[in-house]
Amino acid sequence: LGNNPKTLSPKYFYDEAGSELFAKICNLEEYYPTRTEIRILSEHSREIAEVIGAGRILIEYGAGSLDKVRILLDALSNLVAFVPIDISHSYLMAAAENLRQTYPDLTIRPVIGDFSQTFKLPELPSPDAPHIAFFPGSTIGNFDPDSAKDFLTSVAKTVGPGGGLLIGVDLQKDVSTLIGAYDDAAGITAQFNKNILMRINRELGGDFNLERFSHKITYDVDSARIEMHLKSLTTQDVNIGGETFHFAKDETIHTENCYKYTLDSFDAIAANAHFKRHGEWMDPQNLFAVLYYVCEN
Ligand code: TRP
Repeated sequence: LGNNPKTLSPKYFYDEAGSELFAKICNLEEYYPTRTEIRILSEHSREIAEVIGAGRILIEYGAGSLDKVRILLDALSNLVAFVPIDISHSYLMAAAENLRQTYPDLTIRPVIGDFSQTFKLPELPSPDAPHIAFFPGSTIGNFDPDSAKDFLTSVAKTVGPGGGLLIGVDLQKDVSTLIGAYDDAAGITAQFNKNILMRINRELGGDFNLERFSHKITYDVDSARIEMHLKSLTTQDVNIGGETFHFAKDETIHTENCYKYTLDSFDAIAANAHFKRHGEWMDPQNLFAVLYYVCEN
């Protein structure tokens, strides 16, 4: 908040209240990505499984509830092991336990950790089997292009030459559909955005008045990104743990970016990490893409 312009990192969105609000966002009428990606995975699961091949090790980044991966687990043959990675210990362990009920014969080895940092894979039955990374949800869109490149480079290191990446990417489309997805009529996304201020009040002794901030979404055509901001409705001072932060009227705190891609613009980012596209599946309206890349070199 001391920077100019003011920013807060989106990783602070996800306390318990934030995670619950996020789950609600995924079910909103205006928020098309979740249901569209699930539909694409379901409708093309056999073809996707064929391209990935049999006898693989599957690694899911930012695994969360482990709902989407079930579609793949049902379609993939002779999976060697499944390794879900997530930062939330209790959430991941409960989700993995749940998955074991459905897939009692599958080797499931959860890893607790921040998937954007390097991590070590656990001991696996056939460690030489090809590794496939699964990264759904267009979470890649929340990285700026340089960090997306760094992240994909670290994924390439983990899966190795010949390894694969199945990734969900939200596509460029008309601006009103994009804005609507991040500014729903019921105001859930606004609550989600403002929850970060609530956390500061609660956890750092801040005195943000939530009524004096509004949820602001813009789309920048040149960078093809949604920007999420919290806009100060008045001139005001906010105190946090003994420090004072001044806000001019209409000044914003930039909280997150969501980059939107075309197949070509995403191929270009993936190519930096030596990933070459071997498959693409879209919905009939081309809202969202599930892409499969193989690591060369
Ligand atoms: N990565 C998804 C997206 O950008 C989900 C998401 C992350 C999101 N942060 C969000 C959705 C904030 C709504 C608001 O769409």
